This record gives sequence, structure tokens and C-alpha cells, in this order.
Amino acid sequence: MKIAVFISGRGSNLKALIDSAKAKAFPAEIALVVSNKATAGGLSYAAEENIPHFAVSPKDYPDKQTYEAAIIELLSAHQIDIVCLAGFMKLLSPYFIGHFHGPILNIHPSLLPAYKGLHTHERVIVAGEEYSGCTVHHVTEDMDAGPIIVQKKVKVSKNETPDTLAAKILKKEHQAYAQAIRIVVSELKAYTSQTTTKNEEENIMASPTPTPTKVDPEEIQRYQLTWTRFTVISKYSIIFIALVLVIMALTLL
Ligand code: GRF
Repeated sequence: MKIAVFISGRGSNLKALIDSAKAKAFPAEIALVVSNKATAGGLSYAAEENIPHFAVSPKDYPDKQTYEAAIIELLSAHQIDIVCLAGFMKLLSPYFIGHFHGPILNIHPSLLPAYKGLHTHERVIVAGEEYSGCTVHHVTEDMDAGPIIVQKKVKVSKNETPDTLAAKILKKEHQAYAQAIRIVVSELKAYTSQTTTKNEEENIMASPTPTPTKVDPEEIQRYQLTWTRFTVISKYSIIFIALVLVIMALTLL
């Protein structure tokens, strides 16, 4: 699986992902880095590791759709399966979300659905929350609102400042993103093998490079429900047949 990481600045999450991906058991490689700012510090991590990296500025395009179309072209040129937003300060439009046919993930420094948007740490402290944390979630058309993949919690100390809280949460972010990718990749693999088996049964030639499909949690739930119903019905049918056979045997005796 090939991952593109989108950044806008420091890139500490990008760096953590690059480090995680060095482990043999990690199921994906960081194959592309895109920044909307040429000055983003994180681009240097990509350069150090010879990862293809591009600064694509919206200012160079007449409108948002043309800008996003250029990024989508980059993604397809690098055969990207998953997009990870890591401090990417641009809201992706429905056009982008509809045209990239793979999961798009985001990391947010709060326990979503609480504290969407900016200045989360300040707001958490002002509200006197006991806990905060981070969330990796699927990106949908609404900001910070898609299905949650991983959350990690930290305790807010008595004399916490936004900076100390941010630092505490950032450490958790660096673990959470790699964990979320492992989950998403295994879901994608399970989903792809499920659809491939179905295609084989129908004697349809499976594409040699199946297009990664968004994992629809509702579809998985529906699938699990159907399977549960099937096993329950099968169990009761066997009991019923066994009973009929016993009654028949007793009648004959
Ligand atoms: C992180 O706190 C992330 O949760 C938020 O932006 C910050 C990016 O930090 N979306 P970095 O650039 O990865 O260091």
C-alpha cells in the first residue's frame, strides 16, 4: 500500500510515519509528500529519505477544483492508495473526496467529536476538561467529522498550558497515526479479498491491480449481520431436522 502524506508545516507526524514505515512489519510505505506551502519544514524529512515531495500552492491555480485536480494527478502518477492529512491546513472539497478512490485519513488534536476546528488546547483548558487527546478519523465532506479509527487520551493537569497539553498530545498522535494506518490497511485487504472472491465465483476476471475502494463501515456491518443471521438459521434448521428424525425413529419403533 502506498501512502501520500499531506502537510502544511512542521511535519512531526510525517516524520513519525516515515519512522514507523521503516519497520518490516509495517503494511505500507510513505510514497509521496505533498505540501500546500513551499516553506513547510516537514518537506525536509521527505527530502532526507528521498521520498518524492511536492509543494503545490493553491495560489498557482485559478480555482480550488483545478488545484485539487493537479494533486489528484500527482496521486495517480504515484499510484497512491491512501491519503493521510497530517497538519494539512486546507479543507478538501467534495470534488477531491469524490475523485480520490481510496481512504483519506486525518489527525486532529482532540477527542472528537468534541473540539472540532482550531485552538483545541486553549478551549479544552478553558472548559476545565479532565481529559483531552487525539483522533485519527476518515475524512468526509464535513470538517473533523468522519468515522473514528483511533483515539488516544491524555489527562489534563491542573496547571496545564496550551503548549504543554499540545506536546503531551503530540506524542500520542505519533503513535495513533501508525496504528490507524495498520487498521485501515487490514480493512482494505479484507475488503479487497472479499470482493475478489465474489468476482471469481461469478467468473469475472479480477483486475490485476484492483482499485482500492473506500471501506464503508455500514457495508461491513451489513455483511456481519447477514452472516450472523445465516449461522443462526443454519443452527436452528439442523436442530429442527434432528428433532424430525428422532420423532420419525420413535414413531417407527
Ligand atoms: C498536529 O497537532 C495535528 O493533530 C494537527 O496539526 C498538527 C500538525 O503537527 N492537525 P505536525 O506538522 O505533524 O508536527
